[in-house]
Amino acid sequence: MSDVYIIGASETKYGELWDRSLRELATEAGLKAVEEAGITAKDIQILYGSNSLAGSISGQENIGALISDYAGIAENHIPSVRVEASTASGAAAVREAYLAIKSGEYDLVMVGGVEKMTDIYGNEVVDITSSILDREWEAFFGATPAAMAAISARRYMHDFNVPKETLSLISVNDHLNGSMNPNAHFRNRITLEQAMSSTPIAEPLNLMDCSPMSDGASAIVLASESYVKRNRLDGIRIVSSGISQDYLAVHSRKSVYSIESAKLAARDALRRSGRSLKDISFVELHDSYSIYGILLLEELGFAQPGKARELVEQGIGISDPLPVNPSGGLKAKGNPLGATGVGQFVEAYLQLKGKAGQRQVKGADLCMLHSMAGTGTTSIVHLVGE
Ligand code: COA
Repeated sequence: MSDVYIIGASETKYGELWDRSLRELATEAGLKAVEEAGITAKDIQILYGSNSLAGSISGQENIGALISDYAGIAENHIPSVRVEASTASGAAAVREAYLAIKSGEYDLVMVGGVEKMTDIYGNEVVDITSSILDREWEAFFGATPAAMAAISARRYMHDFNVPKETLSLISVNDHLNGSMNPNAHFRNRITLEQAMSSTPIAEPLNLMDCSPMSDGASAIVLASESYVKRNRLDGIRIVSSGISQDYLAVHSRKSVYSIESAKLAARDALRRSGRSLKDISFVELHDSYSIYGILLLEELGFAQPGKARELVEQGIGISDPLPVNPSGGLKAKGNPLGATGVGQFVEAYLQLKGKAGQRQVKGADLCMLHSMAGTGTTSIVHLVGE
């Protein structure tokens, strides 16, 4: 089977982009990725569009066709489909593209993820994001993504005697890294005190423990090994891809804070790569809430159960042994759902090409990307680099 390379990657700024439409964002990211790849849009053989909630938020379905149309490639009549896996849609779309090249069917594939979350406001958008939970058993009773994350946090902190400061350190790190990312939603640094004392959202989580509602788009161009060789391109290799699923409703899982899908997807990706955690230069993980940052460090294997606290206190910054979320993560870079997972590949591309500017992880050669649907129903883990 062919190896798969990222030959171009780009994105829009993430944030509250009141003056930009869904289609404008998707087109900007897509065209910039095509330019970076040094190809023309007409060369693309299939397009995977990822999006989670545009049907409910923007009243727009059929996102694959929308992106293809506005990227100017509709006249080529190439297939263009949307991939949806809730907040893991972006990574799921990249995985489909990766498998499509590996199968030998395609040589040049584009993935574009987009979300426009700020066109509606307040309770309405919170209710729509709650549709990623089990509507009948969770959301119907008032649970929101923040409430579910808070339940996990309370039980985990109780079981392992973990203080709130540990969670806040995840957000402080994200904001520090985000301050060095020109495309991040938030570019302000925050102190531990500010993180600890921000507005309560769902006890024990406060504003600084939550990813924001973001607009944005990210796109990458993937190519087969033969395409890369033929055109003498310098691509970044997707080494392996792993995926796993858990129960939709949290009450059916092993515990309210276990994210088995992440553990299994990471094992799968590592096994397929023949590499070990020691080889990882940095990790981008799906910390839609700070507690997930902590839990994922454990589930992905970087810390023993209940011990992520020690790792976080030792340091997870860009110069530390395990840099976490150099992009700014979901808290500071932002979380435009359908774009988020594709955006992790944009960060991988920049870092591994040595083009990440101030937030460059020195000597980065292999990274782990983890993307997750909702409270952890689906996890997708990719290893990227050499
Ligand atoms: N972190 C830091 N600041 C935030 C923020 C966040 N997560 N969310 C909003 N803000 C800021 C805004 O920029 C704004 O600042 P300003 O007054 O300087 O302009 C201010 O807080 C108020 O913004 P507003 O949009 O009114 O916030 P809100 O109270 O309606 O929403 C949350 C805050 C945390 C409830 C909302 O962002 C949220 O629900 N986030 C989670 C999203 C989610 O669940 N995604 C799916 C994950 S599975």
